[in-house]
Amino acid sequence: MHRKGDTPATLDLFADDAPQPPSTEQIGPASYVFRGYALPVVDRLLPALEAVLQTAPFRNMVTPGGFTMSVGLSSCGALGWTTDRSGYQYSALDPQTDQPWPAMPQVFRDLAQAAASDAGFADFEPDACLINRYVPGAKMSLHQDKNEHGYQWPVVSVSLGLPAMFLFGGLERSDKTQKVPLFHGDVVVWGGEDRLRFHGVLPIKQGSHSLLGEQRINFTFRKAR
Ligand code: SIN
Ligand code: FE2
Repeated sequence: MHRKGDTPATLDLFADDAPQPPSTEQIGPASYVFRGYALPVVDRLLPALEAVLQTAPFRNMVTPGGFTMSVGLSSCGALGWTTDRSGYQYSALDPQTDQPWPAMPQVFRDLAQAAASDAGFADFEPDACLINRYVPGAKMSLHQDKNEHGYQWPVVSVSLGLPAMFLFGGLERSDKTQKVPLFHGDVVVWGGEDRLRFHGVLPIKQGSHSLLGEQRINFTFRKAR
């Protein structure tokens, strides 16, 4: 595994050309983009993802405000993040089937733990992995991840498929946002003083990825309880 600080913090990014992995960019005091970090395990992540989705397919959930999300959601692990008209919550059961969420595949867990450790958060034991599916045009509005019980553990985010423009803001919604392009295989970790920073994803551009086709898949690992 590569370590933080082994490459310059800024890279020239042209259009949709991914920087050559592996490299690390620091985007906050306790926030890192590990370029290409997941690439060595993609061939194990994808079949494990397929198996999870057979039990818990993607669905477009409704926000408390009544809007249907453009991003399709699923989860694995002990807890799944859900939203409906009554609010946001972590739930041990998939509301669509009333069955437990599928177990978190070991390859998912190991990847999240290694990335957290390389960002300075050793012994991360995620109990929730939210799986987001973006088709071209889908986006994630600026928000904080704050439905978890404690904020001592980071968020670990894995990007697969089509590229995205990740917005990384501050602790106030109105704070200026950094635009961070994310590519297939990139892993972002934010924790510590950055744990509650606002973040979001701009609408995904049209395109087709060689392995995943016309979609972007994102995993976010958290310790919810
Ligand atoms: C999220 O904040 O839940 C998703 C972030 C991403 O898709 O990169
Ligand atoms: Fe989030």
